[in-house]
Amino acid sequence: MANGDYPRPDARVHFGVFYPAIGSVVWGQPESGDQVSFASYATMAQTAERGLFDAFFVGDGQRVREHLDGFNTHDVAGRPDAITVLTALAAVTSRIGLAATQNATYNDPIDLARRLSTLDLLSGGRAAWNIVTTDNAWTGENFRRGGYLPHDQRYAHAEAHVRAIKAIWDGWPDEAFRTQGPDVWSAPVPPVHYADEFYDLTVHPLVPPSPQGQPVLFQAGDSDGGRDLAARQAEVIFSRHAEFEEARAFAEDIGRRLVREGRPADDIVILPGASIIVGRTSAEAEQKAEWIRQQTVTPRAALAFIEKGWGRDLSEYDVDGPLPEIDPVIDEVSVSGGTVGHNLTPAQLVAGWRDLAEANEYTIRQLVLHFTKSRGFVGSAGEVADQLAHYVRSGVVGGFNLHPYLVPHGLDDIVDLLVPALQDRGVYPTEYAGATLREHLGLRPPLSRRTLAPVAAEAS
Ligand SMILES: Cc1cc2nc3c(=O)[nH]c(=O)nc-3n(C[C@H](O)[C@H](O)[C@H](O)COP(=O)(O)O)c2cc1C
Repeated sequence: MANGDYPRPDARVHFGVFYPAIGSVVWGQPESGDQVSFASYATMAQTAERGLFDAFFVGDGQRVREHLDGFNTHDVAGRPDAITVLTALAAVTSRIGLAATQNATYNDPIDLARRLSTLDLLSGGRAAWNIVTTDNAWTGENFRRGGYLPHDQRYAHAEAHVRAIKAIWDGWPDEAFRTQGPDVWSAPVPPVHYADEFYDLTVHPLVPPSPQGQPVLFQAGDSDGGRDLAARQAEVIFSRHAEFEEARAFAEDIGRRLVREGRPADDIVILPGASIIVGRTSAEAEQKAEWIRQQTVTPRAALAFIEKGWGRDLSEYDVDGPLPEIDPVIDEVSVSGGTVGHNLTPAQLVAGWRDLAEANEYTIRQLVLHFTKSRGFVGSAGEVADQLAHYVRSGVVGGFNLHPYLVPHGLDDIVDLLVPALQDRGVYPTEYAGATLREHLGLRPPLSRRTLAPVAAEAS
């Protein structure tokens, strides 16, 4: 397709990087570094910045996931707090955005508003908040309130939580205020009153705004509730939909929701999570992808994957044989240890796996490979650059949030091989557009600083 025939011929690819720390990465090889040492975070963030990435992204979990009687292998690195990590990275980077996942279920608005705007302030306007509600029922045990809200209430609560935080941020008059010195003592920052069905707050804002006004709001969570929250509150979505037609359907769905909320249909930058494996040739990339598969889906990892459904030790089973015929342990919901979504019981999960394995004649290992196969792109840098250009020019995504397979050097090939290939095709910048994350992403001003159109008729 010629460039001019695309709906967005001038679009560019935006890149974020999702720092793995936990998850499916290559461990225990000479190439793998410490998952949570500051040196690893800093190396990857600086590599991403060299590659003009928009954002360095850190996930969050407020309890380490468990597996049977121990840690989940992927969580042994622990769970450092995302905002603290990113604040440290602010000191060793100068341009890249710093996106912190924080859940709206357990945090308090005043505390979270303050910590996020401190990151925003200290980084000179590079912070983002990735709003999640967290799907881990058992996380609540780590909090004095205990328990957790049912799915639909978590989104109603999240909406209130985000509104409260925005009200607190909006409560500090403007950026210039802090430089005016003693003259302003006679006019203190007035308290913010915020009330709804969940909160009744009188809050005295603590931190002035950064050069980008407020942290950029990301959202991750794919249900109707999650998508509606994004359409009302977010500016970027970290999505699950990297396959082209799925990405198109997702973008159309989000566009309709945005119009319903009085926002332009393209008012959110969608960044699906994706793995990208490039080589100097397609054969080299395929070889690397196969090596990564062997390293990440080892026999032990494959068994651990299905053990989280069965809730019991399955080490006597052959990974190249059929799924176990025994029943899962169904009354111990905690077997999920944070790795199984709250919306499926172990029995339902295992029944689904059995159906899939039967239909495809999968062995245990093949079933696990089916679920863990990378959502993304494998090829020579030129081949992958052509595909990414097609995605953004078609308007189905704004870019990608990359999942590197290795810490801390999993981005090196992307930056050294893919970025130049994208630049050659005119779909990637050769320098940062500005100093703040909002500028990198080409965002409009924060929603609370704009007047939105009255709610429009449902988009077609
Ligand atoms: C791409 C993606 C990344 C996510 N990352 C996190 C995370 O780091 N921490 C977390 O607590 N939840 C994370 N979530 C989970 C969401 O917060 C949400 O709780 C979960 O997806 C269930 O909501 P849903 O039914 O709307 O999808 C993520 C979700 C998606 C789609």
